[in-house]
Amino acid sequence: MDKLVITGGQRLSGEVRISGSKNAALPLLAATLLTADTVRLHNIPQLQDISTMVQLLGQLGADILVNETCSLDVTSGEAVQAFAPYELVRRMRASILVLGPLLARFGEARVSLPGGCAIGSRPVDQHILGLRALGAEVEVESGYVHARVQGRLRGARVLFDMATVGGTENLMMAAALAQGETVLENAAREPEIVDLALLLNGMGARVDGAGSDCIHITGVDRLHGCEHRVVSDRIEAGSYLVAAAMTRGDVVCRDTDPSLLEAVLRKLQEAGAEVSHGVDWVRLQMSARPRAVSFRTQPFPAFPTDMQAQFMAMNCIAEGTGSIIETIFENRYMHVQELNRLGASIVVDGHTAIVHGVDALQSAPVMATDLRASMSLVLAALVAQGETHIHRIYHIDRGYERVEEKLRQLGAQVLRAPA
Ligand code: EPU
Repeated sequence: MDKLVITGGQRLSGEVRISGSKNAALPLLAATLLTADTVRLHNIPQLQDISTMVQLLGQLGADILVNETCSLDVTSGEAVQAFAPYELVRRMRASILVLGPLLARFGEARVSLPGGCAIGSRPVDQHILGLRALGAEVEVESGYVHARVQGRLRGARVLFDMATVGGTENLMMAAALAQGETVLENAAREPEIVDLALLLNGMGARVDGAGSDCIHITGVDRLHGCEHRVVSDRIEAGSYLVAAAMTRGDVVCRDTDPSLLEAVLRKLQEAGAEVSHGVDWVRLQMSARPRAVSFRTQPFPAFPTDMQAQFMAMNCIAEGTGSIIETIFENRYMHVQELNRLGASIVVDGHTAIVHGVDALQSAPVMATDLRASMSLVLAALVAQGETHIHRIYHIDRGYERVEEKLRQLGAQVLRAPA
């Protein structure tokens, strides 16, 4: 198990290329199961979660060809089996995304229930409720979701209890091959949903309204192959911008889409950063200590839960006191104790975290607990006095491509070492 060793105190400056989005690429890979034709995906990030999904597709019987870095051909021919075993699903919750496509194409699917998760219980009841509305019989037995339908799924109105990203994605994919029209209400509006709709429409689907809370899908008889470029990772971009703000740096993120980062950029400006952007780049310049910011996490287009931990790290060394309310996941504060070990002053009461900015953090051995939590520790270590060792760094490899290389390119002192 590797660790990251970071010597704090370097000002970050320069340019960094933002990778394709993990959270967009995962449902796109699942959507390739909807056709027997080849789907070519570009800008696929090289990450542990992507390897897990590719492995799952391979296990299901799909052929995967790696063309060049970041480009994959997936062909889910007739040999595909509709069974996703626990051994693979337990490694990544997003594996549940194969349920909708497998059921829609083959009329039956058995997918292991994803296990517990560090950041919250994360049930999949909304996925199941939606598939039942489309006419599927769904049973949960012996840890597996077993879904069946006589003939094809039938379009229906689905009203989600809450905006769920994965639930919306699973239903969009299932409805694409259903008979008739499906309306998804209270749908999630995340950019990753829009990217999935673009791919599905490229494959011949008829999806309308993605990006709003009401998505119309007119089912078609079959889908075909196509080529698609994965949208850039807004959370990776946001994370490097916070790094620039914390180190009083000057960083340009390339190959990114600033329009997907509005809530994040606004908070960075509130913290005192100067932000400029073009169509596919964002630059952040910071000349003073950040000011503490307050926010609550909410579904897109509001402030994303996936940036909560990083902004908490910034508040740790900011001037003033910031209050943070996490509304999406019930247990997404595990980085608090680790940040406090670095000298931060954070108090949690239920869903609220109050962060009193301190003048400086000091190095300590710390442990990553989940993906975004590990990034918050990296950010804190970049400004801490001394050498911080961050253990269990495999969490960060699930979602940040070549993180130490990218940080080094910006001037950080980061090493990966065996723990
Ligand atoms: N929920 C339910 N029932 C369901 C589905 C969701 O109660 O059937 C609850 C969840 O427990 C959670 C809330 O609804 O409290 C939102 O969950 P959602 O389904 O939107 O999340 P997800 O699809 O499981 C994706 C991202 C997460 C990101 C969330 C919220 C992927 C692969 N994951 O998860 O990303 O935090 O949306 O934006 O797209 C990450 O990248 O670090 C990460 C955790």
